[in-house]
Amino acid sequence: EKAGYDHYMRKEIHEQPAALRQTLSGRVDRDRGDVDLDVSFPQGYLDSLEEVQFVACGTSYYASLYGAQLLEELADVRTSVEIASEYRFNGGRDPWRTLVVAVTQSGETADTLGAIREAAGAGARTLAVTNTLGSTVTRETDETAFIRAGPEIGVAATKTFASQVTTLALLAVRMGRERGQLSAAEARDVLADLRGLPGAVQQVLDEDEQVLETAREYQDASSFFFVGRRFGYPVALEGALKLKEISYDHAEGFAAGELKHGPLALVDDDTPVLAVLTEAAEREATMHNVVEAQTRGAPAIGVVSSAGEGGSVDVALEVPSVGLFEPLVANVYFQLFAYHVANLKGRSIDKPRNLAKSVTVE
Ligand code: F6R
Repeated sequence: EKAGYDHYMRKEIHEQPAALRQTLSGRVDRDRGDVDLDVSFPQGYLDSLEEVQFVACGTSYYASLYGAQLLEELADVRTSVEIASEYRFNGGRDPWRTLVVAVTQSGETADTLGAIREAAGAGARTLAVTNTLGSTVTRETDETAFIRAGPEIGVAATKTFASQVTTLALLAVRMGRERGQLSAAEARDVLADLRGLPGAVQQVLDEDEQVLETAREYQDASSFFFVGRRFGYPVALEGALKLKEISYDHAEGFAAGELKHGPLALVDDDTPVLAVLTEAAEREATMHNVVEAQTRGAPAIGVVSSAGEGGSVDVALEVPSVGLFEPLVANVYFQLFAYHVANLKGRSIDKPRNLAKSVTVE
């Protein structure tokens, strides 16, 4: 059932164009410049709500960081994003006006269920964003939006991250329209970029050979640092998590601007820096931080927009232009990089040591 692939993870990375088509299927209304998310909020609810709080763990937490920024950008709503195990509900005077969104692939993560129970108990409205029909989270929330990525077997989440962010983008457009923050024309532009995602991801998958060569060249580094800004920041965190999970190498993700506030002390010629350098990741400012690392001898691998410039990076990996979603497409390069580094080292890619696909204890 791996359909000719050596690992489920590789199969699932390559399934992303199809998964994204499923996520978007029937939900994009181009004519009206709106989204149909089959989630029935009461009339006027999205307009009246004061804050959206995300609760999630691991990769789903990083998808939430991306999604929250989309909500702020497109719907002008206040957001917060909490690691589920650290969450305490704080909903102001009218908890119902706080929408608490649990983002969870499995729908069974104990920490996330605990957070959503606390929020519901305090009177907040709750929404599940999940991949799993009939999962516990769907029974414990007021509404559910399915990400429709299809089953994910590899322990490391890949296609579900892409489908989570895409579902949150659809929610952001819907909310932006309802709240009068996004015109039909503006929404159509965002929706056009979303519809371009499957093709853009496919173009990255077609560059697999270049990523394999990059992995061969840098696989023996002592540490890997991933950096990005804005939408590139959660992608940097996710890129580092993927690499550490399956290769067992030390990797960390940083907001690019934070490098100089400490981590730069660790940088030398044995610590490649992988940077999201697309426009939606504030290319120029991030490039400046990358140059600071290069000055200390670090090799730089940059994901750049096909429209933009790479600057002085040692390896430039290109993504097609899809606006706010370029960092999401950049993430596919990081998935392939993690996969190849782990595979070159003969790691147990689909079942990394010490990890489980669904974490049902707190
Ligand atoms: C990383 C990974 C984990 C999960 C986390 C939450 O590749 O898979 O970090 O993202 O355990 O799981 P869900 O999304 O099922 O709540």
